Amino acid sequence: MLNNKRPDDMARITTPALAEAFIEEQVAAVREQVGDKKVLLALSGGVDSSVVAALLIKAIGKQLVCVHVNHGLMRKGESEQVIEVFREGLDANLIYVDATDRFLNLLAGVAEPEKKRKIIGGEFIKVFDEEASKLSGISFLAQGTIYPDILESDGVKSHHNVGGLPEGMQFELVEPVRLLYKDEVRVVGKALGLPASMVDRQPFPGPGLGVRCLGAITRDRLAALREADAILREEFDKNGLAGKVWQYFIAVPDMKSVGVKDGKRYEGWPAIIRAVNTTDAMTATIEEIPYSLLHRITDRITHEVDGINRVLLDLTPKPIGTIEWE
Ligand code: XMP
Repeated sequence: MLNNKRPDDMARITTPALAEAFIEEQVAAVREQVGDKKVLLALSGGVDSSVVAALLIKAIGKQLVCVHVNHGLMRKGESEQVIEVFREGLDANLIYVDATDRFLNLLAGVAEPEKKRKIIGGEFIKVFDEEASKLSGISFLAQGTIYPDILESDGVKSHHNVGGLPEGMQFELVEPVRLLYKDEVRVVGKALGLPASMVDRQPFPGPGLGVRCLGAITRDRLAALREADAILREEFDKNGLAGKVWQYFIAVPDMKSVGVKDGKRYEGWPAIIRAVNTTDAMTATIEEIPYSLLHRITDRITHEVDGINRVLLDLTPKPIGTIEWE
């Protein structure tokens, strides 16, 4: 059984030197636990699974098999970054599954938010299960569980975790960062050489853009959302907001308004900007984005993204609005 209680005297990992010491200790512990057996990891590209992957590659190299499932609801460039960093950069044993069509076909016509979440979570387990069953000789399952997950596992946020363990999968768990807080995971990730764009990224929900392409998802509206979101992120990056604002994204509702483009009537969807600050995601306040930047983002999104003809700003704190729209 893994120890799931953080010792009272465990120092907070805040410096590269402390991170190095932690990494060394965990590399030894993982080697001891795993021996010459194989370990499977679902690598989403989020901070926690990425740091676990990098740590395990350091400890056991090709004995780690990473599976990255692209559910078609990733942000622009995310799956590509996973491949670049892990397969090309760290020579990982990485299986890439593009399951976009499976997810989008199942989601077609489904407008109810919780139903969408269930479909995405359920299909994720299926795809992962299918990939796992093609492999032989896997004895361990690695997970990016962090300390807040353990503390909150019977709390309000448990429903947020997409997936979980496929039924009938009997693996022993490898959870090297389970006693760490998020800020410590980031320090460890940097010490492992992961890029800042991966380690410092904002939280991203498991169901991905699926809960931001509001109502029944269509491929064209999803594509518009992905492009608009990429522009928002790029502008926040360039203007020093990326490291300052806790979470920022675009939501695109399933409605059109009338506009005009090149002298012709142009019906399009609105892109809604949401940028919030919080410490625990239970409450959130609104970031005051400079108007000049809002104008620039509006100009870019309306000119560069097919299908978007208006940009709106969501000024609603949590409560009363949740951070996501659905
Ligand atoms: P809400 O919308 O509940 O979001 O105010 C609070 C935080 O949780 C994230 N979130 C999710 N994360 N699966 C996840 O892994 C989900 O289904 C999900 N829904 C919301 C949200 O992005 C925010 O950071």
